Amino acid sequence: MKPELILSLPARPVPYAVLGKPVGHSLSPAMQQSAFDACGLEARYFRVEVDEAGLERAVQHLRDVPFGGWNCTVPNKVRMMELCDQLGESARQLHAVNTVVNENGVLIGHNTDGIGWMRALREAFDQGPENLRILLLGAGGAGRGIATQALLEKCPELVIANRNIVRAEELRGQLQSQFSDGPLARTLKNLRVIPWTEAELEAALRECDLVINATAAGLDPSVPAILPARMIPPSVMVFDTVYGAGCAKLRQEVEATGARWTDGLGMLLHQGAAAFSLWTQREAPLEIMRRALASAFSASRA
Ligand SMILES: NC(=O)c1ccc[n+]([C@@H]2O[C@H](COP(=O)([O-])OP(=O)(O)OC[C@H]3O[C@@H](n4cnc5c(N)ncnc54)[C@H](OP(=O)(O)O)[C@@H]3O)[C@@H](O)[C@H]2O)c1
Repeated sequence: MKPELILSLPARPVPYAVLGKPVGHSLSPAMQQSAFDACGLEARYFRVEVDEAGLERAVQHLRDVPFGGWNCTVPNKVRMMELCDQLGESARQLHAVNTVVNENGVLIGHNTDGIGWMRALREAFDQGPENLRILLLGAGGAGRGIATQALLEKCPELVIANRNIVRAEELRGQLQSQFSDGPLARTLKNLRVIPWTEAELEAALRECDLVINATAAGLDPSVPAILPARMIPPSVMVFDTVYGAGCAKLRQEVEATGARWTDGLGMLLHQGAAAFSLWTQREAPLEIMRRALASAFSASRA
């Protein structure tokens, strides 16, 4: 819906939403509605199409109704930080908000992307970042969240590569200033940036356990797979944050080598489950949400 329609909604069933642009493709409504329904909660989850320019006004409308909470997706996660009354620790650590809880008129911003990634990683490969030497491709919003969570989990080595190396260096600088004074200072020693060249990537791939694709490269049909099979050692695990058609080319290359692979649907599921728990103070009905997500995903591809 357009933001102007928000004020026409009743306060019951309690409304929730995902705010983004584009947002029509979002699978969150199916997944979150299934969870509310399964728990017998009187709630309804909407899509609101809004970008940063319209976000402040839309948030005022969401307060007025009032909504119980909302998710933020591209491009609103950073701007939303400024519009919250308080920030939880996860939002401060990841410098972005993907979940807002409206606690009696006080908007509290959280970020469940990092935890969602970590839970999906454990589920897919039965291992966590604390044991894995990681090569992270991408230094945008998703890359930043994953890099932060990986350091919080004390991953033994984190190598960041981004097409535009300046962005990767900026991310490294931000992580260093964020963590250099605290208990994570030691993990920073093994944080490196490498140039986006075939030779550098190939060398880093030989020495990592997990490679994460947090780039949007796969979303552009004209771009070839970011890693060809010949560069991928069969021993690495590949976590692609993208799902659907956008991850098909990389998947094909990875599968040709016999390496293990997972897509971004698990991350989407687990960030959503964590958001649901923040709103409702309940454990999320994970398997119901997983099924709803899978069927909405299949329907979106039909
Ligand atoms: N599964 C989930 O729950 C979830 C959550 C969030 C994001 N994601 C996925 O993560 C991806 C990145 O999202 P984001 O929010 O981080 O976007 P973003 O902030 O716009 O960053 C885009 C990233 O992709 C890189 N990139 C774009 N085209 C490329 C190409 N042709 N070759 C190499 N690198 C390229 C950019 O590099 P430059 O800096 O050089 O431009 C940058 O690192 C998206 O595809 C999204 O689907 C998934």
